[in-house]
Amino acid sequence: MREALEKIRSDALAAIAGARETSELEALRVRYSGKKGELTAILKMMGKLSAEERPKMGQLANEVRAALEDAFQSRAKELADRAMEQKLRAETIDVTVPAPEAPVGHLHPLTIVTREIRSIFEAMGFETVEGPEVETDYYNFEALNTPKNHPARDVQDTLYFSDSMLLRTQTSSVQARTMENRRPPIRIIAPGRVYRSDAVDATHSPLFHQIEGLLVDEGVTMADLKGALGVFAKGLFGEQTAVRFRPHHFPFTEPSAEMDVSCFACGGKGCRFCKGEGWIEILGCGMVHPNVLRGCGIDPEKYSGFAFGMGVERVALLRYKIDDMRLLYENDVRFLEQF
Ligand code: DAH
Repeated sequence: MREALEKIRSDALAAIAGARETSELEALRVRYSGKKGELTAILKMMGKLSAEERPKMGQLANEVRAALEDAFQSRAKELADRAMEQKLRAETIDVTVPAPEAPVGHLHPLTIVTREIRSIFEAMGFETVEGPEVETDYYNFEALNTPKNHPARDVQDTLYFSDSMLLRTQTSSVQARTMENRRPPIRIIAPGRVYRSDAVDATHSPLFHQIEGLLVDEGVTMADLKGALGVFAKGLFGEQTAVRFRPHHFPFTEPSAEMDVSCFACGGKGCRFCKGEGWIEILGCGMVHPNVLRGCGIDPEKYSGFAFGMGVERVALLRYKIDDMRLLYENDVRFLEQF
């Protein structure tokens, strides 16, 4: 029996030391110390020993049992510690790794240009105001000296809701609204969307953006218009920019003009960009028509004013040398990221 106990002790201790998994250790515990285990089997035979042998064997058996129990416990702790260590190592976060860069949005070229134009005029004391896109025929046309059968209505392919309601074709509508509600001096710009029944191509879109400008006060002349718009052109296209005014016609101004800026690509020599002209058309302008002032309750004998309107897309295309307006609306991130 002594030999059997000693063998169990050495076998079991070796097996326990070699156990690699908690489950393996549990199997060993069953095999040696379980109800039907090898050690348990021997302990059950104690009763058959002589009275002389029993205490000695009993003592040895207890030692073996205690040794195995110790070994099980310490091995179990080792395995648990090791498992925890592996788990922690696998879950380690290296706080020194640089964070992935979050993508940052870009301002749309139309937004950039609108803000630049606004800030140039705001520096000259103009205030930004807005008006509705769903507009009445009155503010879009009638109040702007453009009665029902006026030919100027044809060039602006208007989207009507009814006889009297439409999508505004020009931000000039804000002029009339402003003059009705304020008394001179008035200095405003009005950026916003406008709509026309146009098919989409490289230079047309049924929705586009305009910025309207209006200044009304006593003694305002065409010289003030030229001065203010000259400052604007230099601010937007650079100090070397020259401007010229060509006679034109708009129903709501008299006299009316179109303003060109010297080509910022060639400086005026003539190039592909300005189509050999040396000049690029930028906006329409003029002195507010007395009929418009009068219709809004402002005395044209006492006050005069100038107004202008420009297309934001046009300015953005020129400014960034973009050759197709559709690029501005497609929202292709590869395009937008360039600004
Ligand atoms: N509303 C005109 C257009 O859409 C632009 C314009 C021209 C506005 C002359 C004005 C102006 O205020 O005086 O073509």
